[in-house]
Amino acid sequence: MAKKDVEEVVDGKMVDLEDLPGVGPAIAEKLREAGFTTIEAVAVASPQELSAVAEIGESTAAKIITAARKLANMGGFESGEKLLERRQSIGKITTGSKALDSLLGGGIETQAITELFGEFGSGKTQICHQLAVNVQLPRDQGGLEGSVIVIDTENTFRPERIVQMAEAKGLDPKEVLKNIYVAQAYNSNHQMLLVDNAKELAQKLMKDGKPVRLLIVDSLTSHFRAEYVGRGTLADRQQKLNKHLHDLMRFGEIFNAAIVVTNQVQAKPDAYYGDPTRPIGGHVVAHTATFRIYLKKSKGELRVARLIDSPHLPEGEVVFKITERGIEDK
Ligand code: GTP
Ligand code: MG
Repeated sequence: MAKKDVEEVVDGKMVDLEDLPGVGPAIAEKLREAGFTTIEAVAVASPQELSAVAEIGESTAAKIITAARKLANMGGFESGEKLLERRQSIGKITTGSKALDSLLGGGIETQAITELFGEFGSGKTQICHQLAVNVQLPRDQGGLEGSVIVIDTENTFRPERIVQMAEAKGLDPKEVLKNIYVAQAYNSNHQMLLVDNAKELAQKLMKDGKPVRLLIVDSLTSHFRAEYVGRGTLADRQQKLNKHLHDLMRFGEIFNAAIVVTNQVQAKPDAYYGDPTRPIGGHVVAHTATFRIYLKKSKGELRVARLIDSPHLPEGEVVFKITERGIEDK
């Protein structure tokens, strides 16, 4: 029997396949077995496809698809009022540095993708660790009292570092670690699959009153870069990456969570006509990420962060530092 695995959250309401008119347990079972595990998947299916896998008539299939689209709120228009309401629910997570927060207009935003890019050692993973702690802080201290999901592709998540940072914030490290859920991604396909798993976990945590407010993918691009080499495979890679990013964005919107992804770039100032800020193969990421922060090593503990083409924030540069305590102002 296929696992009854996915319920979708629509406008904060829990729905699953059986909530679609005309879909009982038997049809739901067939749909899940054929891979239609979410309302969204059904919403973008064709009536022919659905009719074949669920062994139902095409007109019934069409009705189910229409209902799914409505429930998933796809292809619909939203009023400006509704949009404003959604924007007003956006939360912000402090990075630990006031300077960096102000560069970002107050902190890392929910319902958005923030890309941290820079060369090795520039602080991408350190910021991820810090955010995983800070998102758990009370709101008046720059947190969202939320839990965290980490998709770790390079095996660089360190609970010991979380303990250090939590203690520096006066938090109980054990409690902090309990609210961080980490999965290793073995390859790019697995990485993409983990977003589906993250949805299930996030639904459970929402029911438990511990909503996920931060999803980290560190690194977003390493598997893709390693697996898709050579010109012929480039289009494939960008397409997959594009889908992955849209899945992540959708997660952020459904759960009102911040999405933070990292992307390593080599600092070769001369390689791109003097522009060191162009990530390798990063156009897809560049177009989908809402905020892009370029990180650069400076003297010792110091790091420079620069905000790159943000739609509503001025470009600028700030300096922060990485210490035993974590991310701090210089
Ligand atoms: P790649 O993943 O290799 O691309 O690099 P990254 O950008 O993720 O770098 P990361 O965030 O891992 O930064 C590593 C740097 O953070 C180290 O070189 C140290 O300077 C600093 N750092 C890491 N851990 C500690 C710590 O416990 N104490 C202090 N003081 N600094 C640390
Ligand atoms: Mg790293």
